[in-house]
Amino acid sequence: MKKVLVTGGAGYIGSHTVVTLMERGYHAIIVDNLDNSNAEVLNRINSIVGTKPDFIEGDVRDADVLDRVFSSYEIDGVIHFAGLKAVGESVEKPMRYYSNNVEGSISLLKAMDRHDCRKLVFSSSSTVYGDPVRVPITEDFPLSATNPYGQSKLMIETILRDLANANSQWQFTLLRYFNPVGAHASGLIGEDPNGIPNNLMPYIAQVAVGRLNKLNVFGDDYPTEDGTGVRDYIHVMDLADAHMQALLHFKPDHGCRAYNIGTGNGYSVLQMLQAFEKASGKDVPYSIEARRSGDIAESYANCELSKQEIDWVARRDLDQIMKDQWNWQSNNPNGYKD
Ligand code: NAD
Ligand code: WQD
Repeated sequence: MKKVLVTGGAGYIGSHTVVTLMERGYHAIIVDNLDNSNAEVLNRINSIVGTKPDFIEGDVRDADVLDRVFSSYEIDGVIHFAGLKAVGESVEKPMRYYSNNVEGSISLLKAMDRHDCRKLVFSSSSTVYGDPVRVPITEDFPLSATNPYGQSKLMIETILRDLANANSQWQFTLLRYFNPVGAHASGLIGEDPNGIPNNLMPYIAQVAVGRLNKLNVFGDDYPTEDGTGVRDYIHVMDLADAHMQALLHFKPDHGCRAYNIGTGNGYSVLQMLQAFEKASGKDVPYSIEARRSGDIAESYANCELSKQEIDWVARRDLDQIMKDQWNWQSNNPNGYKD
């Protein structure tokens, strides 16, 4: 059985990917320091799949932890989710981001090298396109960053590209996620942000269960159809499938390849709100507020390359996203603390 090390596997995207891996017969080994996750997710994965994934509580910056894992299991490949992702916090505490994300990735790559494991799928982000000149975005668009979080992703992408250029044994797939949303159809696992959510979808869902009073819509004067921001929302289980496809498509001359992971469709904030209200039967009050600093008007992907090269397309539509989001939130109004 193929053994895959999943760093950050207790988190939102990691936990859904672990379910997909296990259901496809892979042995998933999670390393996570639980900085932004809850060990209860392991019981939930057990309820879905029938087995608990192997779990090592530890930091990817800790070489001893990684050496123990690589020595205990013959790891065939790594999926690297571990990192911090809050844009606003990264502006306040840049060193926390450079340390967790960049130092963490370097520490992982050094451990992989020591143990002759050189296949890695990396969680990159559409944030590496900065403020794109047009949409849809293709992988060859210029890269830039507007905050330390985005900068950390760019730095890691650069490191991976340089390593692959220097040594053809390294095989890297960079998955640039657009806006991950939704939850596993069971309603047992989903996104459980600490504190007040930064992102749109968990914010809407928490208003619907009464944890928050109303949605603040950040700007209605963008050059979009209804004036609110437009994004490419991708179901987290489609994202999980993309990781599976990435693992299946490593090849000897692989080098370092980057793929957009989105749907190719853009939806506005108000369209998202209406679709959620329809799926949940709940009214979600909102008010129009000022633009959020650093936000862009519109972002959505061209996903032809991932279709051609890793045989992946998003299969779940907006109705499915909203149904699964509501199923998770209504069954777990307080997330994993319930
Ligand atoms: P998440 O916070 O739910 O998951 C990340 C996991 O990594 C958490 O369980 C956390 O405890 C763990 N972690 C953080 N630092 C660690 C460290 N130093 N050592 C070990 N574990 C550590 O976030 P997510 O939404 O699942 O995102 C996963 C990855 O995908 C991140 O790298 C993120 O930057 C990237 N990404 C996320 C989004 C998004 O909107 N969710 C979009 C694009 C890219
Ligand atoms: C979506 C839309 C907001 C919250 C961020 C990161 C990006 C990536 C994904 C990791 C925008 C609007 C939001 C709210 C609102 N993460 N909004 N009220 O900004 O596209 O991307 O998450 O890599 O790097 O920057 O996602 O969900 O925050 O916002 O009106 O309370 O919803 O203005 O138009 P974003 P988001």
